[in-house]
Amino acid sequence: MLRELNLYPLWVRRDVPVAAVPIKEEGRLDGGEADTRQAKPSEAAMGIEALNPSYVAEAPTVPALSWPELKQQVRDCTACSLRAGCMQTVFGVGDENADWLFVGEGPGEDEDAQGEPFVGPSGKLLDNMLAAIKLKRGSNVYIANVIKCHPPENRTPHVDEIVRCLPYLQRQIALVKPKLIVALGKIAATALLGKEATLGSLRGTLHDYYGVPLIITYHPAYLLRMPAEKAHAWDDLRLAMDAMQKLTD
Ligand code: URA
Repeated sequence: MLRELNLYPLWVRRDVPVAAVPIKEEGRLDGGEADTRQAKPSEAAMGIEALNPSYVAEAPTVPALSWPELKQQVRDCTACSLRAGCMQTVFGVGDENADWLFVGEGPGEDEDAQGEPFVGPSGKLLDNMLAAIKLKRGSNVYIANVIKCHPPENRTPHVDEIVRCLPYLQRQIALVKPKLIVALGKIAATALLGKEATLGSLRGTLHDYYGVPLIITYHPAYLLRMPAEKAHAWDDLRLAMDAMQKLTD
């Protein structure tokens, strides 16, 4: 079933250096100390490389890029075949020093046309979700996606596409240094957690992304299809608000 949904296997070891894991050099994400730890080669071999050596070898290396360098690298990226079929890359938008980071799956058609995440119908709902917790796009909020290119027919991104694109998100997180991350939907949750589970089992609790509290909730597009789940999403947003309150008290 997971294979049919293009969700298998979608585990990405978090300690594998492929993705220039963002955290340690920047301080705040892990609470301060720089960490020079590197995954051992044998560990790396058990991780993404075990899935498919060719796309690991082709994953971009973005260890210490600045914002302009990272934006340029994403613009120029041809690491997977998605770029050939979309209009433009969609990097991310908002306050580059935001406390709040919202992570979606990948650009849809509207986002592909406009070059900005969450500008279509699910973006309108996301804006309403932000407003419900007194947030506004661009003001102390950064919005990014796991993948930066619109997949054909809006299909779920393939695991090799996610693995090749994830280093960009990881670097964005390292640069933004958010206090709290909200993952929207299963792809974002799986990519950030490095493990797969049902969204229902992941939501409603605080997770950890290398020392940054991570809250997982439903993707706005799912909520548009399943409005009854909005009550759960609201619970998640309240949990996020409470967590942020504690972090900033
Ligand atoms: N869905 C996403 O996950 N991201 C977008 O930017 C738009 C729709």
